[in-house]
Amino acid sequence: MMIKTIPSAPFGDQKPGTSGLRKKVQVFQQPNYAENFIQSVFDVTDDKTNGTIVMGGDGRYHNRTVIQQAIRIAIANGFGRILVGQGGILSTPAVSHLIRKHEAVGGLILSASHNPGGPDGDFGIKYNISNGGPAPEKVTEAIYARTKNIDRWLTVETADIDLDRLGEISVAGVSVQIVDPVADYAELMESLFDFDAIRKAVAGGLTMAFDAMHAVTGPYAKEILEHRLGFPPATVRNGIPLEDFGRRHPDPNLVNARDLYDLMMGPQAPDIGAASDGDGDRNLIIGKGCFIAPSDSLAMLAANAHLVPGYAAGLKGIARSMPTSAAADRVAEALNIPCFETPTGWKFFGNLLDADMVTICGEESAGTGSNHVREKDGLWAVLLWLNILAVRKISVASLAQDHWSRFGRNYYVRHDYEAIETARAEGLMAELDGSLGSLPGTKFGPLAVEAADNFSYVDPVDGMVSDNQGIRILFAGGSRIVFRLSGTGTKGATLRVYLERYEPAEGEINGQTSEMLADLIAAADACAGIERHLGRTAPDVVT
Ligand code: G1P
Ligand code: ZN
Repeated sequence: MMIKTIPSAPFGDQKPGTSGLRKKVQVFQQPNYAENFIQSVFDVTDDKTNGTIVMGGDGRYHNRTVIQQAIRIAIANGFGRILVGQGGILSTPAVSHLIRKHEAVGGLILSASHNPGGPDGDFGIKYNISNGGPAPEKVTEAIYARTKNIDRWLTVETADIDLDRLGEISVAGVSVQIVDPVADYAELMESLFDFDAIRKAVAGGLTMAFDAMHAVTGPYAKEILEHRLGFPPATVRNGIPLEDFGRRHPDPNLVNARDLYDLMMGPQAPDIGAASDGDGDRNLIIGKGCFIAPSDSLAMLAANAHLVPGYAAGLKGIARSMPTSAAADRVAEALNIPCFETPTGWKFFGNLLDADMVTICGEESAGTGSNHVREKDGLWAVLLWLNILAVRKISVASLAQDHWSRFGRNYYVRHDYEAIETARAEGLMAELDGSLGSLPGTKFGPLAVEAADNFSYVDPVDGMVSDNQGIRILFAGGSRIVFRLSGTGTKGATLRVYLERYEPAEGEINGQTSEMLADLIAAADACAGIERHLGRTAPDVVT
């Protein structure tokens, strides 16, 4: 084992954000940078001696380099077994599953999720703990504290591991196993869903298009959708993981997955269109001529999950992040089960899942998942949709229509203002925060503010308090505007404005989202002074 000394304070900030440490590739390429972070993770990890660690990434540029670094550091830190996805590939939900299945101490996921890749793109490292979920705040805080005073990292001198050859080798007495990234995950999916029913529906003419965006889900989708479920070849598009994702953002929103959206709105549309992001934890669902907002998708999946083998016993509860629409709350109410509202970021769901208080969770940012792993899971959501469609034998659009006419509809849109000067973004939030007390009773056009607050969460399992999680402005009748700053951007600050209006079942459930939300959009600028603070008249991304 070798001990490498780290020159004092060489890097600047290594504070993990909403989902791990995410920086430009060039930042990660600095000598000692990744090593410092990985060693800090291991320094705060107990039980590592002879323990198992899982490693894999979304295949983006620099993935293989960091995997080799991480393998050496893990060996030097005393782990007994290292499981690595072949080619350095593992989706985020697949890592979560492997950690749980092999009772690993934790896992390293090398990904910057939906952020662009390539030499000028982003890179990231996430650390997941033994329950398979993202490290909770107390762990990420400890890692961060360690990065600031660490003065050495440990490594071994050994040749690069052949990441492409399946099998086990022993390095300095440590078992390094290169595993098939798809096999265990596909088996888990077969245990949850009725593959026979889906296969029958496919044989009966059910068609789909899946856009893997040249990111990690390509191999998973090909195996599961084409090989096991019988969808014809070419159902999976952009199925080969590329280091720069073919120069696209692997973010399955209506901007980056435009081709899929256009296909689904056109005359050649298959029955269902779906996409996933860089590391495979997000999902986009579009029916023929019918986009399903992620908040709606969560509610629709929750309302129908009992039709699927893995959830036949019903749901314990539902959890959604605060900015996610309240559509799921109405389903929970009808099912007479609890619904939890958590801060943004999957780690808050982990405690609720571990305590068996909820079964299904979701975020407006296209993340949906269940107690089968401790991460959101893109392909899982797609398979749940397919299974439900196969059982109910209806189209995506009819299912949505049926849902709204039962529960009412939460019109919803998110406006993102990207790469803004951090000081300006913070100025806007601070001013808004200062005005919260005076907002109730104020009218913005036809809308009267009922209440306003800065969201604070007390974890019902461990009592941990998370403050300052976003500003909520609530209007009469269930309309709402939420303002928060992103924790995952790598360039300046990103302001997210979430707009929501509830229309009851007997109201106008077939309106145009932009028209239904026009008053709220005007109110958002009026109460936060978006244009005044940011000098922007329109958002960069509307999802
Ligand atoms: C974004 C999403 C959030 C998600 C996170 C990680 O975080 O909004 O829901 O959990 O990515 O995928 P944000 O940039 O808003 O902090
Ligand atoms: Zn992701």
